[in-house]
Amino acid sequence: MSKERLLELRSLLHEHNHRYYVLHQPTISDFQFDSWMKELEALETFFPEMLDNNSPTRRVGSDITSKFEKVEHVRPMLSLTNSYSEEEVADWVNRIDESVGGEIDYVLELKYDGVAVSLHYEEGVLVRALTRGDGKVGEDVTANVRTIKNIPLQLTGDYPKSFEIRGEVFLPREAFEKMNAERAEIGMDLYANPRNTASGTLKQLDSKEVAKRPLSSLMYFVLGDEGLAATHSARVEQARSWGFDVPYASKRMIERLKSVEEMMAFIHYWDAHRNELTFDIDGIVLKVDKIALWDELGMTAKSPRWATAYKFKAEKVSTQLEQITYQVGRTGAITPVANLKPVFLAGTTVKRASLHNADQIEKLDIREGDWVFVEKGGEIIPKITHVDLSHSRGSENPHRYISTCPVCSTPLLRMDGEAQHYCPNRDGCSPQIIGKLEHFVSRKAMNMEGWGVETLTAFYQSGWVTNVADLFALKLSEMVGFEYWVEDEVSGEKRRRTLQQKTIDNLQEALKESRNVPFERVLFAIGIRHVGETVAKRLAKHFKSVDRLMMASYDELMAVADVGDKIAESVISFFQLSSNLELINLLKVAGLQFEMEQEELGEELAPVLAGKIFVVSGVFSKYSRDELKQDIEKRGGKVSGSISSKTSFVVAGDDMGPSKRQKAEELNIPILTEQMYIEMISA
Ligand code: IVH
Repeated sequence: MSKERLLELRSLLHEHNHRYYVLHQPTISDFQFDSWMKELEALETFFPEMLDNNSPTRRVGSDITSKFEKVEHVRPMLSLTNSYSEEEVADWVNRIDESVGGEIDYVLELKYDGVAVSLHYEEGVLVRALTRGDGKVGEDVTANVRTIKNIPLQLTGDYPKSFEIRGEVFLPREAFEKMNAERAEIGMDLYANPRNTASGTLKQLDSKEVAKRPLSSLMYFVLGDEGLAATHSARVEQARSWGFDVPYASKRMIERLKSVEEMMAFIHYWDAHRNELTFDIDGIVLKVDKIALWDELGMTAKSPRWATAYKFKAEKVSTQLEQITYQVGRTGAITPVANLKPVFLAGTTVKRASLHNADQIEKLDIREGDWVFVEKGGEIIPKITHVDLSHSRGSENPHRYISTCPVCSTPLLRMDGEAQHYCPNRDGCSPQIIGKLEHFVSRKAMNMEGWGVETLTAFYQSGWVTNVADLFALKLSEMVGFEYWVEDEVSGEKRRRTLQQKTIDNLQEALKESRNVPFERVLFAIGIRHVGETVAKRLAKHFKSVDRLMMASYDELMAVADVGDKIAESVISFFQLSSNLELINLLKVAGLQFEMEQEELGEELAPVLAGKIFVVSGVFSKYSRDELKQDIEKRGGKVSGSISSKTSFVVAGDDMGPSKRQKAEELNIPILTEQMYIEMISA
């Protein structure tokens, strides 16, 4: 009987649970599994101090198959039948008239394009939030839903003791575009549309990550046994009075109507105006207002008869592809662009559409001169869905993707596993140089007001500025009256500008101010590939100065929260280039901050872990993995990415990889559970 054996059994059982429930590849018999479990139970009774809520004895194995607890819906979550035409709407109304008769009020509201959730409130408090799942069983996403700002956690007014409310969780378009812009900036793949992003976000394991994304909601359905009004429209108002976000009649988001004619007017209004909303809708939902009629009308196999959805057609037009051109981004990434014969689509004139990458062009077999279908569905940026073969083809041969940079003619590269080609000539390719300058002065980086793309381009074209350090060497005071040309992006017209004293004062002021920008933002500004705002912050906090960051090994980088191998490799190769080291030296001389300031270093915790090297692996319940790493560092410990003879402890959560465990065991390195770690730091 030993504690070592206890730990060994836990790890064996975790591993075989995972093999059984997640991988569906058991390698031991059920009998063997059960007998280990019994042995572990016995040991845990014997050593009560080794209690751990994450022990395999403490949970039913099937929990592991999914990340969220599955919960049966009290009332099934049904779907809606779809209608696509006036005729179908009229049929639906007729059927209802025939089956229940009399004057019937209908309520029409928007069909929000997001993720359905069911929220349960007891005594005015949110107790559970479930996804739709298969309609009968949903997933418990309460922790994540709690982060959505317009979902009340405590109700106000005269609410029923117990009820359920359903609605849609979505990501407003602007937030979606901002997220994608940030991803594009650090060279990450873009999210397809707001709906998928909202759905993915709601299923994130770490609710703190969810909280960073501005999800929103609108409620559309209140259910319960008591304290509820007799019509849907009155229940919507009740929900508003308890603190929920529900549609506004004043904005025409909900209307009570009687005739098919009025209904079609509402539908057409929103089909034409949907782009004015801040979020996506994909149709209109039509409902019978009086709830007593719902039971009377009953349901079909999967959907109620008292409601239907009018689905908008994805807006799509056919136009001619005139030319495929290529854009070069700040990091050298090449994006092929379809230049189209201008066409009106979903409220705007479309002239260009992204073709993403070489694979996309090949997949769709798009050729210059082809007629193509352009669609604006859930996606914000118009996309080409396929070639319109009702017209004759354009070019005879498949499109040949460029092999050299369209701007500087350098042969393009494509890394293994990356979709995009890129131009490696970072210091000699103008869009990369101007892009880097633009990024450097941008608000989130050095925030140099007055330094816009036009001035930067002019200075670059005059040969005065080829990198960010040159900005600090400019003799601005001698440049009053400097003339330059700017090109209007839309009309292509060129206009002459003259540099005025006042502008120069502003430019100088911004240069001066930039010396106060903290290290973490300077680090973001210098534009290391894949190092976005958050990672720059983490690296700055961890290494505290650029000199230390430069010396960091791959393992040391990997040990920093949010840093994966792509980022670690990018940081290392950035500092391997002598031109980058020179640039940093020049910026240091110019007075920019390359160290954390003393007060930024944060509150100090007792360095109880000084001299100890930790490896953190698996999933934890009280900390996220990143928090745990930060906690270790705050207490003076070091975190390393891989186990070696120098490792002092391994902190193991759920699902720690078997190879890591084996290595730790071979090297005789103690494996701590999260609980044991907590006890260790509080001892
Ligand atoms: S009422 C019995 N109202 O559409 C179903 N649903 O296709 C009652 N949806 O799962 C649903 N906006 O996620 C209703 N104003 C709205 C809606 C709405 C979006 C979604 C909902 C539902 C799906 C049905």
